[in-house]
Amino acid sequence: MHVTDLIRRKRDGGELQRNEIEFLINGYTRDVIPDYQMSAWLMAVLIRGMSRAELAALTETMLNSGKVLDHSDLPAPKVDKHSTGGVGDKTSLVLAPVVAAGGLYVPMISGRGLGHTGGTLDKLESIPGFNVNLSVTDFRRVMAQCGAGMIGQTAETAPADKRIYALRDVTGTVESPYLICASIMSKKLAEGIDALVLDVKTGSGAFMKSEKDAIFLAELMVETGQRLGKRMTALITDMSQPLGRAVGNANEVAECIDIMNGKGPDDLRELCLVLCAWMFLLGKRVKSVEEGRKLAEDLIASGKAQDKFRELIRLQGGNPEVIDKPELLPQARHQVEIVSPASGYVTSTMCEDIGTACVLLGGGREKKEDAVDPAVGIMVHKKPGDKVSAGEPLCTVAYNSQERLERARPLILQSYKIDSVPPPSAEPLVRKIIGDMA
Ligand code: URA
Repeated sequence: MHVTDLIRRKRDGGELQRNEIEFLINGYTRDVIPDYQMSAWLMAVLIRGMSRAELAALTETMLNSGKVLDHSDLPAPKVDKHSTGGVGDKTSLVLAPVVAAGGLYVPMISGRGLGHTGGTLDKLESIPGFNVNLSVTDFRRVMAQCGAGMIGQTAETAPADKRIYALRDVTGTVESPYLICASIMSKKLAEGIDALVLDVKTGSGAFMKSEKDAIFLAELMVETGQRLGKRMTALITDMSQPLGRAVGNANEVAECIDIMNGKGPDDLRELCLVLCAWMFLLGKRVKSVEEGRKLAEDLIASGKAQDKFRELIRLQGGNPEVIDKPELLPQARHQVEIVSPASGYVTSTMCEDIGTACVLLGGGREKKEDAVDPAVGIMVHKKPGDKVSAGEPLCTVAYNSQERLERARPLILQSYKIDSVPPPSAEPLVRKIIGDMA
């Protein structure tokens, strides 16, 4: 088999066989095939796409490049949720404790911020002492004890994705639905789950800006998971404005604590309840979405979800006191309000700009090696549809560096569109549901 023949065949729109895809992926993971050949093949895939058989072979080869965790000794279904990434997208921190408090297991392997989007691991690390780098043995111990574990990708699971993802990031080959599907699904299936709920974001703060592209990606992922025997549902959800009000890391953890206290923003609470409901349904804990939602509401109202979060934080080395005293979370030295230049209605926020502004403040990474500042962030006061007067605060920025603030400020201001007439009523938060029991 010659690598160049396989690159040429894909370049010309042909199809590769399963053994040819295995040869490429395993060869690259074992350092036999060089970066330049893999890059050429990835670009050919980005331009030409893949057949369903090729996508299945790619996902399975990446999945089997490492360990597939086995939690069959744990006495209840294992369920997870994966989001394709957004701004203020913090639902994982609520879902894991709620669903574990409801009796299912949640083996959550998450990522760091990517581009303008935030990452669950960065948010968790803003809790003093919280360790996201557990060994597989410790991860399983935490899960067995409290029903959920939240860690980063280990060297043992889906190593092919780790290498290929890093190469895609620097070769303009991230934005292929086939490559995104294989990347996400290989990592998630390595967690040893029975069922997966996908939160596929669409809108200005998502990677898939158009609903059509989001639906296409969702269908690919649902089909890929189902083919491997998993129960799969994808929700296409709005990301045209930040989810909730907090964008950052420590402030997002505080907002999740608010939700578990029965407070917090309506949109965030709603999405958390809907996603929990689907996790309970796919995990066969309930018979309907309505029942799942009610269970999630009860677990929050009774304080059981919050107790579970406290236990999870403690077992992973963090300080559980943050739940009762969120002021123990890192705080920025300065705050400033960004005010509206005009009176009228907020008609839209260019959500990606708000995410990028948070990165510029230090809440994300401009370069891979950058350290994240957990304390900085943006608290959004005005959202699309809200009335605003000139001089009234649109948001409050928490910052530690004046220079960073000056880079972020214009992006925040330009992200807001103010008009004299209100916008048409907002699109629903959940646009479409695809997959099992939808
Ligand atoms: N997230 C992933 O894990 N992989 C991708 O390719 C894109 C987003």
